[in-house]
Amino acid sequence: MSDKIYPVPADWAARAYVDKARYEAMYQASIEDPEGFWGEHGRRIHWFAPYTKVKNTSFAPGAVSIRWYEDGITNVAYNCIDRHLPERADQVAIIWEGDDPSEQKHITYQELHDEVARFANVLRLRGVEKGDRVTIYMPMIPEAAYAMLACARLGAIHSVVFGGFSPDSLAGRITDCGSKVIITADEGLRGGRKIPLKINVDEAIAIAGGVEHVVVVRRTGSPVNMVPGRDVWWHDAAALVTTECPCEEMGAEDPLFILYTSGSTGKPKGVLHTTGGYLVYVSMTFQYIFDYHGGEIFWCTADVGWVTGHSYIVYGPLANGATTLMFEGIPTYPTKSRMWEVVDKHKVNIFYTAPTALRALMQAGDEPVKSTSRASLRLLGSVGEPINPEAWEWYHRVVGDDRCPIVDTWWQTETGGALISPLPGATDLKPGSATLPFFGVQPELLDADGKVIEGAGAGNLVLKDSWPGQMRTVYGDHARFMETYFSAYPNRYFTGDGCRRDEDGYYWITGRVDDVLNVSGHRLGTAEVESALVAHEYVSEAAVVGYPHDIKGQGIYAYVTLMVGVEASDQLRKDLVTWVRHEIGPIATPDLIQFAPGLPKTRSGKIMRRILRKIAEDEHGSLGDTSTLADPGVVDDLVTNRLNKR
Ligand code: WTA
Repeated sequence: MSDKIYPVPADWAARAYVDKARYEAMYQASIEDPEGFWGEHGRRIHWFAPYTKVKNTSFAPGAVSIRWYEDGITNVAYNCIDRHLPERADQVAIIWEGDDPSEQKHITYQELHDEVARFANVLRLRGVEKGDRVTIYMPMIPEAAYAMLACARLGAIHSVVFGGFSPDSLAGRITDCGSKVIITADEGLRGGRKIPLKINVDEAIAIAGGVEHVVVVRRTGSPVNMVPGRDVWWHDAAALVTTECPCEEMGAEDPLFILYTSGSTGKPKGVLHTTGGYLVYVSMTFQYIFDYHGGEIFWCTADVGWVTGHSYIVYGPLANGATTLMFEGIPTYPTKSRMWEVVDKHKVNIFYTAPTALRALMQAGDEPVKSTSRASLRLLGSVGEPINPEAWEWYHRVVGDDRCPIVDTWWQTETGGALISPLPGATDLKPGSATLPFFGVQPELLDADGKVIEGAGAGNLVLKDSWPGQMRTVYGDHARFMETYFSAYPNRYFTGDGCRRDEDGYYWITGRVDDVLNVSGHRLGTAEVESALVAHEYVSEAAVVGYPHDIKGQGIYAYVTLMVGVEASDQLRKDLVTWVRHEIGPIATPDLIQFAPGLPKTRSGKIMRRILRKIAEDEHGSLGDTSTLADPGVVDDLVTNRLNKR
């Protein structure tokens, strides 16, 4: 924990929408009178028919139900595009920066309108209607945003699947939500390397079945297999349709999208977000947390396959009529200065990235940063994992030239938008702390028995009441929704995060307390990696835990027991790594695989992960009580053969 404080710069307090006094007043109002507060701020978006009800939510055991603005009628694409046309038709909505620095595009709001309307018409001609699920498996090109907004325009529910996921993972997500239509590209391009998206889609469809149409955007131009009657090129289909496409009237609680995310058990869950509350929440957090003023250039480096991309590349910025930058490439290609070169090239004012990227860039030293100007930057943001104070300080001093506040935003796929974050004109900063709750957000810390921790202390982070951007259910499995988030503590939403609160009431997220890993800001369930491992013919048993990793935040440590008669070898280790990458995707690559003759189990056969975690963390001096183990001897072998973290 760092005890340094960075006070709000005077010019920020003066220019920001919210200063300290206003934050306190607004926060107070949002807690004392949520109806009044959200009733007022709900009007920041356009409603075809206004709502008369604001909040109708319950976290009560067995009766969890979350509804916001439930009788209002609106459309997200209308709010992100059409509403801006009278004033902003010629303003740039999306700046696209290609993987290769020679490629870029500027898309105005009028052009965005036309492309999205065409895309919607292409989908409509393929039978897509309100409520249908459409899977989007795309690289970071403007067509990914068009596809999402086209779905929103028609009232179809999009499910964006990150382009780094394997055909198997994609197939599982297609099947779970029953998508009949897939939108993809021939290939993706990242760091000069091609990603075979269409090939993956073909494989996934072979596994999942039930897909009737595939719309393929040409990105690299490499030849791909097109199945007649099923597959169509986007440019061919778009040439046949007009740019007229009315926006479907959507109830506030009609679904907007499903986004799959990892939990501590089983397969990924389809987090469902709906229309009205989500848009109010992401548009409001975008404006206040980034203190966005008209004309500024905002760059969020996430991929649209993650929630950060949904909320802060596409929906939040566009709902505010902002200019949002979309980057196809990676931070280190073609040079280690790429991020800052992009900042200079497009005069980026607000830059939002993940700690893992900062730690990687930090290793390359200050020179690749300092050789660029970055004079346009005013505000920096961080998201996805705890930011260590060293990375925070480096970000502030080297990237921001000691001039730009940093907003460390804590949130989750489930929360829709940021819940704990500084406001740059209102909040004194402490490196490593996400600071204070956003309006309407009521964090609470509980101990293992559910007792409330008052004042300074540490515990499990829960939320006492609903906010408009909250997920509504797990798609197709409301029981799992209640079980996952509302069963640990009655009447509370359980985040799965541990957290400390200091004497000033600042929140310090300490990381997941469940079996979810956060590897380079990507969420992964240990159970997912384990089931991929045991699906290999030579593996009898596997247990996966996280360990501290200098760049990734957490690395993946796998303990593997082989089938009888199979010999452990470095080659097999490599094969298992390749296998997991193939089963799930490169983000799940195990960093360390330790072959173990046995795993520590209780007498009832439950693997004691606590012990495995300690060994992986190199803290086997403090293994705690091992007396309940069926065979305490296995621990000695595990400790002796422990692998060193790289
Ligand atoms: C972690 C990403 C500390 C946390 C938006 C959370 C963070 C999980 C922060 C959600 C932060 C996210 N500080 N930890 N600023 N932001 N996390 O669903 O453990 O991909 O529960 O959403 O990331 O990851 P998800």
